[in-house]
This record gives sequence, structure tokens and C-alpha cells, in this order.
Amino acid sequence: MESHLFTTGDVVKIFQYEGTRQSVVVAEKNGHIPSAIRGRKKPKSLRTWTLEQLPEIGKYFGYFKPFPAPKVITVFNQKGGVGKTGLVATLSRTMALHGINTCVIGLDPQSSITLYLTNPVVRLKSLQDWTVPKTVKDYLAGTSLEEILLGTDLPTLSIIPENHLLSDLNNELGVKSMRHKKLGPLIKDLKKIFNVIIFDTSPTFNSLAECALYESDLHVMPVACEIGCYSVMEHNYSSLNDWFKLIGEEPTKRILIPTMMANNRISQEIYSSYLSQYKGEILVQSIRRSIKGAEAESEGLGVIEYGPTSTLGQDYIEVNKAIYNLLSED
Ligand SMILES: Nc1ncnc2c1ncn2[C@@H]1O[C@H](COP(=O)(O)OP(=O)(O)O)[C@@H](O)[C@H]1O
Ligand SMILES: [Mg+2]
Repeated sequence: MESHLFTTGDVVKIFQYEGTRQSVVVAEKNGHIPSAIRGRKKPKSLRTWTLEQLPEIGKYFGYFKPFPAPKVITVFNQKGGVGKTGLVATLSRTMALHGINTCVIGLDPQSSITLYLTNPVVRLKSLQDWTVPKTVKDYLAGTSLEEILLGTDLPTLSIIPENHLLSDLNNELGVKSMRHKKLGPLIKDLKKIFNVIIFDTSPTFNSLAECALYESDLHVMPVACEIGCYSVMEHNYSSLNDWFKLIGEEPTKRILIPTMMANNRISQEIYSSYLSQYKGEILVQSIRRSIKGAEAESEGLGVIEYGPTSTLGQDYIEVNKAIYNLLSED
């Protein structure tokens, strides 16, 4: 698989830099960003950077800076197929592209975020190289953090991966009292290494989701502008508040993100209904339906590096900024 290379034009687009491409060249000459690879063919002056170099460039040109203290985010909705994993992939990669040390924790036995971020199709030379990754379940059974953390193609992005046995962990936790506090020690350790920690969850309100929500500074709830999500929203929303009441805690700060926005009447009506029903908690910016996300994933990239000026890229940039701004308020 050919490695991805990014030109000065790409850098300007990815980091929404308002200056010229020439300023990127000047920054390179002055040593503010890593040295580019020069084209072997004409034009010889063409500068390109590898994916691994982008976080150093993002530190200099990007729009996000690390938080003064580490932040924990849970992306959760009991409804499946609302864009949780897509959002975790894009948000985590955007943070990492800005040179911010980021860790994703996968809690879904389906392993979608693990497969997205560790991309076996790109990474594995042969099926024989495949091993089942260690998870949060292994950590709770005594495996060290170093042994469960996996690196990715971005030096600033790590993941605690998933496997099918997470459903057993969920069942084991289910019978424990104060189970929602069980990931506290893990988060405490991770905060020593990472500035941003993001949970991806499975589409059920289970013990693992409880643990994630309890540890988080922000709950990001993608809400699909589709009948399937609309018809269960009232129930999903109120069961969250009921649970926080049950454990005697204030609900985690929440932001609802309209997703899967389509160009049809029902989708628009659902969007309007969400905006009035969840006023104050819901973002006006939506994430539109687009094939770009699946395309980026198949290239092993996030939407921001793959298509920063596409409609999906633009939607995600606004959503990421809204999430970042909410976290910066604390
Ligand atoms: N904006 C979008 N437009 C169209 N399809 C999308 C979009 N975001 C995600 N998808 C696709 O929809 C499916 C479900 O998305 P995913 O992020 O896995 O949702 P969840 O994690 O909530 O189950 C995936 O196949 C994904 O590629
Ligand atoms: Mg998912």
C-alpha cells in the first residue's frame, strides 16, 4: 500500500490556514515544521509530507491547541448506525493531527473503531500476522497499560482496542455494585499520558457505557435524522437522565449532534423536531449523509485528511470545533 503524501496545498486545507502556501514553504525553511520530501520528478520544488509528519505541522498551523488539563469524551447513543464510530474516528484523528496526544478507548465488542484506526487491510502483510488485540477487559484483569495500548498511523494517536470478549466484561460488571466507577483507575493513568481521551461505545445502555459516561467531561450524542433514531429518541434520552438520578449524580454535560442528514422531507422534519425538542443541548450544524466517510475509511484515513473541503469534511470541522469549544469552557 502506497503511503499518503500531503502537499503544501493539502496542509493549507487540512488546517484551514488562512495564509498562503508560500507561508508553509517559509515555515519549513525556518525549521518551524518538519522538512518536506522533495519530488524526484519534476517539479523538483514540490514539497510533500507524510501522514506521520502532519501532527508536527498541525502544532504550528492548526486551529486546536492542547487543553490545559486532560479531557474525557464519550460518544454514545443506544441507537446503532447513527454515526458514533465515524465521529470518534474523525474527532480523534483531528485532535491527533493537531499534535494533541489522543487516546481512543473502544468499548464495543463489534470492534468497529479498532478496525478503522488500526486498519488491518493496510497494516497486515498476511492473515497469519493477525492476533486478537487486548482490551480494557485485560487491563482490569491485571495486564499493564503498555501491553494494551496500540499505536496507529499517527504518532499522536493511540487506541485501547476491542475484541468480542468485551461482552463478557459487560456481563461481569453487571452484577457489581458501583460498577460505573470501575474505569476510574484506568482514566487516571491515561490522563498522565494523553490530553484527550475518547470512548466509542456499543449501541446499548450497558455497564461499559455507564463507566464511560461517569468518567467523562462531555457526552457527545449523535442523533440521526432518520425515523429509526427519531422513534426511540425520547426513550433513549430519558433513560440517560433516569440513570444519573439513580446513581445520585448530575448528568454529564451533553451535546447532541444531528447526523445522517438527508435531502428529503422526513429527514428535514426530524431535524427541525430535534432542534425544538432538545434546544440548548443540540448543535444546529448537522453532519450530512455522504459517501466520503466510507471512502476515507477504506483509504485508512479520516475525513479531515482525506477530503477537508468536501461537504462531509466541512460538516465535521464545524462539529469538532463545537465539541472543542464546549470542553474549553470548563
Ligand atoms: N455522514 C454519513 N453519511 C453516510 N453514511 C455514513 C455517515 N456516517 C457514517 N456512515 C455510515 O453509516 C454506517 C454506520 O455509521 P457508524 O459511524 O458505524 O455508526 P454507529 O457507530 O453509531 O453504529 C457505517 O457504514 C458508516 O460508514
Ligand atoms: Mg459504532
